[in-house]
Amino acid sequence: MGAPNISRRDFLMKVGQAGGFSAAFLTMQALGLMPQAEAMRPIEAAPETGKGVTVAILGGGIAGLVAAYEMKALGYKCMVLEARHRPGGRNWSVRGGDTVEFLDGAQQKCTWERGHYQNFGPARLPSVHKNMLGYCRKLGVALEVEVNTSRSSYLENDEANGGKPAVQREVINDTRGHVSELLGKCIRQGALDQDLSGEDRDRMLSFLRQYGPLDSTGAYVGSSRAGYVTLPGAGDQEGRIAKPVDMHTLLDENFWDGILFEEVFDMQATMFQPVGGMDRIPYAFAHALGKTVHYEAVVTEIRRTAKGVRIGYTQGGRTKALEADYCFCALPMTMLKKISNDFSAPYKQVIEDCTYAPAYKIAWESRRFWEQDYNIYGGLESVNTGCSPVWFPSGGMFTERGVLVSGYAMDDWGEFASMTMEQKFAESRKTIERLHPGHGRELEKPMYVSWRQIAFNEGSWVATYGPDEPTRGWGDDAHRVNPGYETLIQPDGPIYFIGDHVSQIVAWQEGAAVSALRAVQMLSDRVRARQSS
Ligand code: ALA
Repeated sequence: MGAPNISRRDFLMKVGQAGGFSAAFLTMQALGLMPQAEAMRPIEAAPETGKGVTVAILGGGIAGLVAAYEMKALGYKCMVLEARHRPGGRNWSVRGGDTVEFLDGAQQKCTWERGHYQNFGPARLPSVHKNMLGYCRKLGVALEVEVNTSRSSYLENDEANGGKPAVQREVINDTRGHVSELLGKCIRQGALDQDLSGEDRDRMLSFLRQYGPLDSTGAYVGSSRAGYVTLPGAGDQEGRIAKPVDMHTLLDENFWDGILFEEVFDMQATMFQPVGGMDRIPYAFAHALGKTVHYEAVVTEIRRTAKGVRIGYTQGGRTKALEADYCFCALPMTMLKKISNDFSAPYKQVIEDCTYAPAYKIAWESRRFWEQDYNIYGGLESVNTGCSPVWFPSGGMFTERGVLVSGYAMDDWGEFASMTMEQKFAESRKTIERLHPGHGRELEKPMYVSWRQIAFNEGSWVATYGPDEPTRGWGDDAHRVNPGYETLIQPDGPIYFIGDHVSQIVAWQEGAAVSALRAVQMLSDRVRARQSS
């Protein structure tokens, strides 16, 4: 007798009954019916690989913490030297009671109410950043959704629409409607006959009718997707659809930027944030690492020795030294420029040549007018000049007050560069006034963090690795072809460089994490090879 004729569905039902949901799930994965979940890839090394091996980790930001966490698990003896009194580096949540101190001596005391905070460094975790999300899961860091876009939020451009802000749902859907109408016209007039078969021509026209949406004549005449001038209501209150924004207005490039933001790979929903502040992540690492992390330990010297490395540092006014077999250097290159070191010539060169971006954020405490008066919950808004974007908080929705960002850009742009702090605050307030007239005056207790003015960073993230390179921002992926970057990703003898600048995910915590994981793998392979030779 042959095998019984059993359908795939029956088979899965039986597996489910016998082994519960997870058995059915795993079977479905094996049959190729479910996607394999993207998960953290563990380091491939035997449990005691690091036994007897010492590593000095310079910098207790995400890269240094991940490296220490992974190496501790493999039996390495690690010590993290962190210059500040707290872990996290740029992962910094400022709260009431904190002081922000600039290198030029300016001091700002934060007096926000209890529970309010601003993540002046990283402030969002994309769902594709599996390592960071994996560590949050492992370390028990509670996450909530970070609302990265809101269709109810606004875009404003002085040169378009008479400077009148437009709602994003309107801009996005009217753009789509106009493009669909034009493409439909081209197809009907035969302009694409060379490119489309008769069948695809018909398919495309049907698609555009839905996608636009277009009316029976192929015209875009507006859509409820873009919003209403009168909302549908009770009784005879019919919804009245808004007249589309004209195409000329929508074609302004400052609107494109706004409408395409949510399409960027690492900006797409669903995004997350730790409940209570991004710094919950470094504190969770620090808690797990205990005495491995040494605070207020300022590295002054990085030397090579016959055995490995000697790190000179100061702590509590005393000069100290740490000898180790290897060094994981997570310090920003802006700092390495000033630290006496024994790096080989190509490394010294990249450190000398590189430049860093000067990102800043300005944040204010306010009544949640955006929620209470505009139905905006989270998301970003932008204006075409001055301080931009505005970024509404995702935490604490429906409470009375909150902290919003008005201005997150580069501190060396245009007139902003030479303004005083008070003038910058005035610019930032003006942005809210342009988008939400009358509400600029509700903003209180501004806090401004300009990363080039922050000790132990002096910049937000790497911009270039060499003198002939075009300046790049985060999200640009041309680092791989750069000789400076190629140098940094290899160890300089016993010294491994880590940090988001040693990854292709610059300006993201995930970049810092993967650079650390890669270096731990490289070191473990090296240690194993040495042990077996
Ligand atoms: N990754 C940074 C951000 O999310 C640049 O804004």
